[in-house]
Amino acid sequence: MSDHTIDAHALHATAKYKQFPDLANQVAFITGAGSGIGRAMADAFAANGTHLALLDVNIESLERARAELHRTFPQIEVECLVASIVDETAVEAATASIHARFGRIDILLNNAGISANRPTLELPAQQWRHAIDVNLNGVFFCAQAVARHMVAQGSGVILNTASMYGTVAAPERAAYCASKAAVVMLTKVLAVEWAPKGLRVNALAPGYVHTALVQELVSTGRMDLAALKKRTPAGRLGEPHEIATLALFLASEHAAFINGQAIVADGGWSAYSYI
Ligand SMILES: NC(=O)c1ccc[n+]([C@@H]2O[C@H](COP(=O)([O-])OP(=O)(O)OC[C@H]3O[C@@H](n4cnc5c(N)ncnc54)[C@H](O)[C@@H]3O)[C@@H](O)[C@H]2O)c1
Repeated sequence: MSDHTIDAHALHATAKYKQFPDLANQVAFITGAGSGIGRAMADAFAANGTHLALLDVNIESLERARAELHRTFPQIEVECLVASIVDETAVEAATASIHARFGRIDILLNNAGISANRPTLELPAQQWRHAIDVNLNGVFFCAQAVARHMVAQGSGVILNTASMYGTVAAPERAAYCASKAAVVMLTKVLAVEWAPKGLRVNALAPGYVHTALVQELVSTGRMDLAALKKRTPAGRLGEPHEIATLALFLASEHAAFINGQAIVADGGWSAYSYI
């Protein structure tokens, strides 16, 4: 590929995202970075000059992300870590290796999560436990491991990806809604506990976003895409880059006084009392 093509890629990717100059040369740790919203976050922060540590259970998607990022943003350092956030020992080790490489961690995008849609009477204990493990316990382990470094450095921003389903309910989502609501409350607790130490902790609460997670529910017949669009006042699903843009703002100094909040980005879905 010619240098000219590389420049065109970088220009396009940078133009897509609003610029927050204070994010340049910071270090962001993104979980679930191989796909969907996490992958878009990697582009968004790289386009702002932020160095990246990407963690995922899926090694192929991580390698793909690393190659794409290197091609588009050759000046950004990218560390890739294969681990599951449910394994607290692996999370500690990943966090220590990121800190050893970069010397600091400024932003945690605590984003990895899974769906668990199933009628509650048929939800096996193992699936309930796994959803709580990934969506809640994993988020806690990452926040705790990273905050130890942030508290020592006296600053840091943690953004937990919850969901609008952490604030409103829907049938057949017992584990998902319960785990995401717990993430919203965990966010508030961490925010009030760590604010005096220089940290901010907020949650992103997306509505339906065009990613593999939603695609899987659609292709297995557990979600009706046309009905979903009709139900959403915006008439469409969100795009991953729209959630990544919210993360940029919340991580930036423009959001310096926002702490302990869950910011819903759902095209009006949860405001709409549908009849
Ligand atoms: N897509 C939506 O409509 C939507 C809506 C609200 C909230 N969310 C939340 O956004 C986050 C990202 O979702 P997405 O739609 O981008 O999903 P996605 O499936 O496209 O990406 C999730 C990524 O997390 C990784 N992952 C899964 N379990 C993991 C684990 N144990 N350890 C490390 N990595 C793991 C997956 O390999 C994948 O790369 C999730 O927390 C999800 O609940 C998504």
